[in-house]
Amino acid sequence: MNIKINLKIIFFSLLLLTVFSHCTRVTLKERKTENFCQNWKFHLANVNDAKKAELDDSAWRTLNLPHDWSIEGKFSEEHPATPGGGALPGGIGWYRKTFALPAETEKDKLIFIDFDGIYQNSEVWINGHYLGKRPYGYISFRYELTPYLNYGEKENVIAVKVDNSQQPNSRWYSGSGIYRNVYLVHTDKIFVNHWGTFVTTPTITEKSAEINIKTDIRKKLEKNQQITLKTTIYNTEGRKVASITSSGITLNDSVTPIEQKIEVRNPNLWSVENPYIYKAISQIEHEGEILDDYETTFGIRYFNFDSKKGFSLNGKPIKIKGVCNHHDMGCLGAAINTRALERQLEILKEMGCNGIRTSHNPPAPELLDLCDRIGFIVMDEAFDVWEKAKPEFDYHLYFKKWHKQDLEDLIRRDRNHPSVFIWSIGNEVMEQWDKEDSNGSVIAKRLTNIVKNLDPTRPVTSACNGTEPSNPIIRSGALDLIGYNYSEEKYAEFLETYPGQEFIATETNSALATRGAYDMPSDSIRRWPPRWDLQLLDGNPDYTCSSYDNCSTPWGTTNEETWKIVKKHDFISGMFIWTGFDYLGEPTPYDWPARSSYFGIMDLAGFPKNGYYFYQSEWTDKPVLHVFPHWNWEEGKKIDVWAYTNYDEVELFLNGKSLGKKQKTEDDYQLVWRLTYTPGTIKAIANKEGEKPLIKEIKTAGEPAKIVLEADRNQINADGKDLSFITVKVLDKEGTLVPHADNLINFEIKGEGVIAGVDNGCQTSHEPFKANYRKAFNGMCLVVVQAKEKYGRISLEATSEGLKPASVNIVVKQICETF
Ligand code: GAL
Repeated sequence: MNIKINLKIIFFSLLLLTVFSHCTRVTLKERKTENFCQNWKFHLANVNDAKKAELDDSAWRTLNLPHDWSIEGKFSEEHPATPGGGALPGGIGWYRKTFALPAETEKDKLIFIDFDGIYQNSEVWINGHYLGKRPYGYISFRYELTPYLNYGEKENVIAVKVDNSQQPNSRWYSGSGIYRNVYLVHTDKIFVNHWGTFVTTPTITEKSAEINIKTDIRKKLEKNQQITLKTTIYNTEGRKVASITSSGITLNDSVTPIEQKIEVRNPNLWSVENPYIYKAISQIEHEGEILDDYETTFGIRYFNFDSKKGFSLNGKPIKIKGVCNHHDMGCLGAAINTRALERQLEILKEMGCNGIRTSHNPPAPELLDLCDRIGFIVMDEAFDVWEKAKPEFDYHLYFKKWHKQDLEDLIRRDRNHPSVFIWSIGNEVMEQWDKEDSNGSVIAKRLTNIVKNLDPTRPVTSACNGTEPSNPIIRSGALDLIGYNYSEEKYAEFLETYPGQEFIATETNSALATRGAYDMPSDSIRRWPPRWDLQLLDGNPDYTCSSYDNCSTPWGTTNEETWKIVKKHDFISGMFIWTGFDYLGEPTPYDWPARSSYFGIMDLAGFPKNGYYFYQSEWTDKPVLHVFPHWNWEEGKKIDVWAYTNYDEVELFLNGKSLGKKQKTEDDYQLVWRLTYTPGTIKAIANKEGEKPLIKEIKTAGEPAKIVLEADRNQINADGKDLSFITVKVLDKEGTLVPHADNLINFEIKGEGVIAGVDNGCQTSHEPFKANYRKAFNGMCLVVVQAKEKYGRISLEATSEGLKPASVNIVVKQICETF
C-alpha cells in the first residue's frame, strides 16, 4: 500500500467518522416503527363501499399524510363551521392505503397501526374488518391489525372514514382529516406495551438521581414465558450512564408490570435554559434473544408550586412566561409539520417566552418533543368541554362515553415528557356555572383521579373564568393549582380568597391587534366588543385592531396591564397569554368577513406584531429597542411614537431635532412621544451605562419599487417535509418598507421544492392558502417552500407588476441516515 492510498483511507475514515458522529443515535433493532404516511388515496365525500378492500380507488387522489382537507377549501360565510371555526369546509372524507407484508419477515410479528390524531369521528377498517371508532379529534390511538392481515402476494387495505360534517363542533379552526402522523409498528409477541413505560425521578441531588422505571410488558402467547428486562440509560451525547438487568421474570398474565430503580450519577438537570434529555432503552430478552427494544426520552428535574413564592424549577424561582396556542400553523392548516412548529417555538423563545399551554386539547406529540428539546414549560390540556355544550356538536356529545379512555390515553402518552409540568382537565367548562346540585364537582374529582392514578407527580388544574369559591370545580377541592382565566383585577386578593392555595394565571390578556394597524390617540384603550355578548358596532371599517397596545377584549387586558401585575406578585406562578400566534377562526371582535383571530403576539403568518418586542424587552436581557409606528401619515396629524426598550433611556429625533429623552418607570413600560407629523425620519437612540447605544430609524416610504425575499433557512433537508419560510417585503427605491403596500406578488418555484402555502397575516383575506400568489398586507407576505425528497436546489422567483423582481436559492441537502 503506498502512502497515497494510506492517506486516502485516513481521509475517508475521518470523513466517515465525522458523518457517523453527527448521525449517531441509539438505534432500535427489534421493534420496527415505520412512518406510514406515504401514498394514501383520498376522496372527499362519503362512499358506501369504501371500507371494503376490493373497492377500486384508482381514480382517487393520491397524497401523503399528514393531510388537512379544510385548509385546501375556499372561505365562505356559508360553511357550517362559521367564521368562528375559520369559515372553511368540513364534510366527510375517506382515506385508503394498500400495502403488502412479506411473509418471511412479518408472519411471526404483531402489527399495529398508530394514529397521532384524526379530526374527527374516525372509523377504521382493515381488509373490511371494523377496528373501531374514535370521536375525539385530538387523541392519539392504536389498533392491532395482526389477526386480519394478508402476507405475501395478497395485499392489505386499510380504510379510514373521517366525519367532520356535523358543525359547528369547535370554537376555533379544527382542520379535517388524518392531520397528524401515522405509524406501522411491528413487534414480537412479547413487547413493551403501548405507551408502556413511566419514568420518574423521585430523588435528585447534585451528585445523584434515582430513576424509577415502570415497564408494562405485554404477552400475546398462550404459554408462560421467562424473560429478562434490561434498561439502559443514555445521556444526550449517546453515552451509556447507567443500566439495570432484572432476570427471571415470569410473564403469567397478558400484561406484567415491572419496576426498576437506577441511579444516575452527577445528573444533568433539565431546565428551560438547559433542556437536557436522557434516553432509557428497555430491552426484553428471552434465552439470549432480544425480543423487543423500546425507547423512552425523559429529563431529570424537580419543581414546586408554592402558595407564597410561586413556581420554582430545580430549586430556583422562575416565573412561567407562557402563551396559549391552538394547533393550526396558519397557511399549512392543521396538517402537522415539525419544522413549522419548531419555527413557532424558536420565535417564542427569542421573545423570552418559556411556557406553552396546549389550548384546549391534547397536542401533536411532536410539539412536546420540541418543548423537551428547546426548553418550554408545558401545561397539557385535555378538554374544552365536559358534559355541557359550547358549540352544538362539540365533544360534549361524546364526553360521557369517552372521557376516561381519552384522558388516560393522553396521560400515558405524555407523562414522560420533561417539558410537561401541569395537567389541565378543562378550559372554562360550562359546569363552572352550576349551582348547588352541580355535576361539575363530581366530574372534576373523577377527572383528577384518573390523572393521579396514572401520574401522581404533576399538579392538576382547570382553567376557570368563574373565579369565585362557589365555582363547583374549585369547590370540589380536586385542583392542586387554582387557575384563573382573566379577572386580573382579582389576582391581588387571591391569597385572601384562597389562603394557602397555589395559583397560576391559566389564561390572560386577549389583547387584540392587526400587524401594522394604528388607531390614535394611542393612550385611549378600546375594549372591543363592548361586552362578551354584544356586537361591536363602531369598530374599524377595514376590520383592523390597533397594534399600539391599546385594544383588548373587555374580559381581557392589554399586554402591559397584565404583565405589570404578574411581575409584581411572587405568588403568581406564571401566566399563559391568549395567544402566541393568531389562529384560524374566532375573529373577535369582528365577524365575517374576518375569519382568523386578532389575539396573537404574532400574526397568522408568524410575523411579530409590536407586542413581541414589549415582551422581549421585559423577558430577556438581549438589547431591545423597538420603535413604531411607520412614518407615512397625513401632514399635520398628531402621531404617537412609542418605544419599547430595556435600556436606561431613549432619545427621539424627528428630522434631526431632539424631542427629548424618556425613561421607563415602574408603572409605565412604554415610552411615548406625541408628534405633529411631517415626512422624513424619526430616529431613536437608546443608552445604557457601559453599553453601546442602540439606534433605530424609521423613514417615510415612497412608492413601492422592489421586492426582497428573506428565507429563514437557505438549506433544508430532502425529506419531503422540511420547510423554508420566506418573508416577502415590498420596499421603495431607497429600501424602506412601504407600510400599506398591498401589491399582488406572484411566485415561480423551480427545482426540488414546492410551495406549501402562502399568507400575509391579514385577518380578512379570502385568498387561498394553497396558491402561487399572494397580495402583500401592510408591506409583507409569506411563502412557505417545502423540500421534495430529492437533493438539489430550489429557486423561488417573486414578481409583481411595476416592481423589481427578486429571487432566492435554497439548497436541498441529503439527509443524514441513521444506521
Ligand atoms: C377565553 C377562552 C379562549 C378564547 C378566549 C378569547 O375565554 O378560553 O378559548 O375563546 O377566551 O378571548
